[in-house]
Amino acid sequence: MAEFAPLKNDLILRAAKGEVVQRPPVWVMRQAGRYLPEYHVVKGTNNFFTCCRDAKLASAITIQPVDHFDGYLDAAIIFSDILVIPQAMGMAVEILDKVGPFFPDPLREPEDLKTKLTPNPDVLKELAWAFNSITETRKKLNGRVPLLGFCGGPWTLMVYMIEGGGTKLFRYAKTWLYLYPEAAHELLSRITDVAIEFLAQQVVAGAQMLQVFESWAGELGPKEFKEFSLPYLKRIITGLRARLAELGVTEHIPVTVFPKGAGYSLDWLADTDYDVFSLDWTVDPREAIKVANGRIVLQGNLDPGIMYGSDEIISKKVKEMIKEFGGGKQGYIINLGHGTQPFMDPAKVGWFMKECHRYGSL
Ligand code: CP3
Repeated sequence: MAEFAPLKNDLILRAAKGEVVQRPPVWVMRQAGRYLPEYHVVKGTNNFFTCCRDAKLASAITIQPVDHFDGYLDAAIIFSDILVIPQAMGMAVEILDKVGPFFPDPLREPEDLKTKLTPNPDVLKELAWAFNSITETRKKLNGRVPLLGFCGGPWTLMVYMIEGGGTKLFRYAKTWLYLYPEAAHELLSRITDVAIEFLAQQVVAGAQMLQVFESWAGELGPKEFKEFSLPYLKRIITGLRARLAELGVTEHIPVTVFPKGAGYSLDWLADTDYDVFSLDWTVDPREAIKVANGRIVLQGNLDPGIMYGSDEIISKKVKEMIKEFGGGKQGYIINLGHGTQPFMDPAKVGWFMKECHRYGSL
């Protein structure tokens, strides 16, 4: 492993381990990206994946919010995308302007598993650029804040690989669940294997904490979640811990799981080796604290839509949230319940962070 500068701010790592901290750490999903004017300057006419694959561009974009909100962010998250796993598995993926993800040749039939995916992809080779960009970013951060790595959850990635992009109906992905369940499990299992290696190698490259984004969890009912998501989320964390040990990583790397829309899964995931459960805004913090009962650290969870509200309402919501999470000095990481949106005003996001520091320090 490379040598890096010592951390000046390890608040999020300590909070994730359940230690008592002076204030809850703050970061925001999608804190880098289109709502920041400087993102557009650096991105220029490059396409999205060119920015991810170029270590100089990706590290510059990753650090933009850390500079913009100087002193208010307690973590950086590597600028990349969850869809790099399908790419590593042999699928073409583009991000189209104003459309989003696009797979020209999605999986549609079980036979496609044989013809459209690379068997046992070499993750270290296929995603070499991602590891390179993590190492470069960690160096450039120079210990200011920890660098987070991430991947998509197996069910979420399966949805994109089958639907070929965003969807409101989930028609093809649900066809796999209910008509081709065996093929669905095979695909989920193959994604899981790649996710484990991808996360482990991100740590070797310099990531100090990880998050698994199961963004489409809410499309599953509790029974289907238990069948098609939970087993794979569990296998990711046990497989990852084993793989990290094998790779000689001795320190404990905190890992967050974010099953968006499936707050009911907190009780099940609290008993796994995940360190943090990220809540969306549909869950009442007081209820989550009761359910978690100290078994897992909680992250979240204001509606990102508060950024469209007044400063006063943002202050009120932040104050309330921190209070409902028990004051935030233990077992809590501040975030939104989902990512920022391109239309948001950076000044509002900054005000949100400021108020998080204010009320979190009380
Ligand atoms: O700042 C960060 O949080 C790090 C970067 C990051 C991106 N995507 C950058 C991005 C992260 C962590 C992601 C994860 C991701 N990607 C998720 C999980 C989180 C979530 O939102 O639920 C999902 C579902 C995706 C898939 C994806 N990638 C979508 C739906 C889109 C289009 C989104 C949109 O806002 O239109 C992307 C592209 C993407 N990923 C962009 C960015 C900044 C927009 C690219 C651009 O046009 O500049």
